[in-house]
Amino acid sequence: VVDIRKLYANTGMFTYDPGFTSTASCDSALTFIDGEEGVLLHRGYPIGQLAEHSSFMEVSHLLLNGELPTREELDDFTYTITRHTMLHDQLRGFYQGFRRDAHPMAIMCGVVGALSAFYHDSTDISDPEHRKISSHRLIAKMPTIAAMAFKYSSGQPFLYPDNTLSYTGNFLRMTFGVPAEDYVVHPVIERALDRIFILHADHEQNASTSTVRLAGSSGANPFACIAAGIACLWGPAHGGANEAALNMLHEIGHPDRIPEYLARAKDKDDPFRLMGFGHRVYKNYDPRATVMQKTVREVFEALQVSDPVFDVALQLEEMALNDDYFIEKKLFPNVDFYSGVILSAIGFPTTMFTALFALARTVGWVAQWNEMISDPAQRIGRPRQLYTGPTKRDYVPVSER
Ligand code: ACO
Repeated sequence: VVDIRKLYANTGMFTYDPGFTSTASCDSALTFIDGEEGVLLHRGYPIGQLAEHSSFMEVSHLLLNGELPTREELDDFTYTITRHTMLHDQLRGFYQGFRRDAHPMAIMCGVVGALSAFYHDSTDISDPEHRKISSHRLIAKMPTIAAMAFKYSSGQPFLYPDNTLSYTGNFLRMTFGVPAEDYVVHPVIERALDRIFILHADHEQNASTSTVRLAGSSGANPFACIAAGIACLWGPAHGGANEAALNMLHEIGHPDRIPEYLARAKDKDDPFRLMGFGHRVYKNYDPRATVMQKTVREVFEALQVSDPVFDVALQLEEMALNDDYFIEKKLFPNVDFYSGVILSAIGFPTTMFTALFALARTVGWVAQWNEMISDPAQRIGRPRQLYTGPTKRDYVPVSER
């Protein structure tokens, strides 16, 4: 048995906080969350207002530069991003190396990491201009990379970016368009997806953002850092939850079966959890889920479709919010509960959901990375641990063991 006090007698002040539930790893001026009240602000602006009135390009400018852009600044920023949407042609070769059934997140991890090998002219992180260009490149190329991952998995030819379209319109066309055929971007879908991007743009020190910061703290180049963030986002407890939530809603299939699933979620011997429910920080309704629920209705109305899983989701939410277990543990729908329903109505397969999240979160990741690198007090991230192994003992030759 390890005597922890003796082992750490010379260490000084030492805190043990598994999962970092109450330790701030940095200071940041980007995003504020009040989990008890269900408040999310980007540079002071409430997420509801941004989702209602602004665009993903505006929010990207806000996160990167600190202020909402003027008309001229927005045009300039949009033009700059648009100019970088093309992918180096040699990167196509990377796609051919993947199996057709590769998960888009596997492709994204690989291709985004590989950008470091192509854009040497923007990897000197001590140069603010390099940092700016690499940030723009990452934001601009992410839709192209994600759309190509989708095309590759469905065996269709890649489409080049059409830079006459909006950021989101361009992504929709690269994903769903077919060569030699006109693809008309549906304005309601374009707006809904742009709003989904806004809702995912940043969320302070979540697991993937902390990963990007930790990777970046060693001086790694931004493309490698964002690839690390993508890897972290992939997990079902984080970005993979929207895929898992929709799969769960399909599995439930009918409102009659909801009580059975609620009982399973409450059973401590059953590892099942209600996907899209609960959050490390929000102990109230996730404000992004409110916008998401409204957006589902708009998309269904515009496309004149309905989906029984939406009814299951609405009823599941209502029953959970009136259930003592969920009330007591303060478990509310999070951003992922409804996002899968919209994304699938738009036509995205579930495997693309997390890739879309990564696309949007890239803005937050690069803004956080820039904020960290520009801070003169920045040091390499180096958490400590609480050692629980054997205390000092002598080596025994293999013949005597
Ligand atoms: N269903 C049933 N019970 C739950 C759920 C859930 N979805 N979430 C938490 N609980 C319970 C836990 O069993 C635990 O109960 P206990 O106190 O009796 O042991 C209690 O609530 C606290 O849960 P923790 O896992 O300790 O909370 P934590 O803050 O670590 O986890 C998390 C948060 C991972 C989001 C969790 O709520 C979860 O697994 N939810 C489902 C997955 C999900 O939707 N993830 C998306 C998060 S949002 C995002 O990444 C964009």
